[in-house]
Amino acid sequence: MQKLYVAMVGLPARGKSTLARRIRDGLLAEGIQARIFNNGDMRRAMMGAESTEPDFYNPDNSFGREARELIARRNMQQARTWLAEGGEVAILDATNASRARRALIEKTLNDYPVLFVECVNEDPLLLNACIRRKTTLPEYAAYSEEEALQSFLKRIDYYQTIYDPLGEEKFWLCVDSTANRILDERACEGSPYYPAIREILVSVWVHSLYLARHGQTEFNVQGRIGGDPPLTAKGRAQAEALARHLRGREVEWVFTSTRLRSHETAAPVLAERPGAHVMALKEFDEIWAGDCEGMLYTEIRERMPEVTAGRNADKFGYAYPNGESYAILRERVQRGLRRALFLAGDSPLLIVGHQAINRVLITLFLRQRSEDVPYIYIPQNQYYHISLTPRRKVFERIPY
Ligand code: F6P
Repeated sequence: MQKLYVAMVGLPARGKSTLARRIRDGLLAEGIQARIFNNGDMRRAMMGAESTEPDFYNPDNSFGREARELIARRNMQQARTWLAEGGEVAILDATNASRARRALIEKTLNDYPVLFVECVNEDPLLLNACIRRKTTLPEYAAYSEEEALQSFLKRIDYYQTIYDPLGEEKFWLCVDSTANRILDERACEGSPYYPAIREILVSVWVHSLYLARHGQTEFNVQGRIGGDPPLTAKGRAQAEALARHLRGREVEWVFTSTRLRSHETAAPVLAERPGAHVMALKEFDEIWAGDCEGMLYTEIRERMPEVTAGRNADKFGYAYPNGESYAILRERVQRGLRRALFLAGDSPLLIVGHQAINRVLITLFLRQRSEDVPYIYIPQNQYYHISLTPRRKVFERIPY
């Protein structure tokens, strides 16, 4: 049986390890023996603190260069032995940034085909956040935040000087790791694993996503739309109840909108999780009602009947004057979700959204006719728990 090596490619903080884990987990779920051989883990175990210094990655530093090559060779050897002993797909997780390194891999691992998987992430917000997150890893425990940041950026600079995109290698896939999208490929025809890996790379993976709406606000009570109102006492109690309900459940990332009601709802959840990452994304701000922002539904009906009529005729497609429609909203919510899922990787996340935002989010997972989207019921005392992998789809609504 033809086995396969998969070698990840990409600059640091491009999502390689997350994708490597998904390839492994996706293949394991199909009953295929897959294992990751990670150069970084071996480097940290062998070299310790010395290899955190940026100079270790300076291409002119022969000590660092040779140490990294030694690690790469050892990992290749281990991968080769593992395939010989019964493994089926060995995944080499490293930057494999230069063409020379990749030529070495193809030359050394000549018993089975090597498929290179290049990860591209050109979203500056994500890149920035990923780089910041790296600086919180145990490897940088002895550094201040700023020192860690500068050190890691310098490391990336060094990699950048030797980085060659894929092209000359025999088999490869280039993936936008922020969007489950294949940008280009040279297919590994004939490999029984290739279609499965391709499928894994384009699938949406959500290990555990909690989706809640903010608690009640005074605007909700009045029937007033948009704005930036705080929670009412009932809304704060709903936020506390959400936190109580999520107690004991893992939540490592919390995404809010930039609105006060979303922050206030997330606050009790965050208070119980000092280590959680939190990020406000404006992509999750409530639908922008333009000229109608802050108005009561009844006022709109009386003073701008054409708006009510337009929405009644086509609520999904109708855009408020100088504002948004659900169709427009879907674009930015999709971008926000992509960002949130990329940043959380395989960690559980919570999104505290709004009525229209959550309608759109839900329908990005569960296909619905567009015209039904604006009418989905989004209560303020229930949250959704969503878990999607190619082999497991969970979608539950839980009262709290
Ligand atoms: O009423 C609360 C609210 O979040 C408003 O801010 C927003 O305009 C509205 O819901 C969206 O729902 P609909 O499209 O049904 O008016």
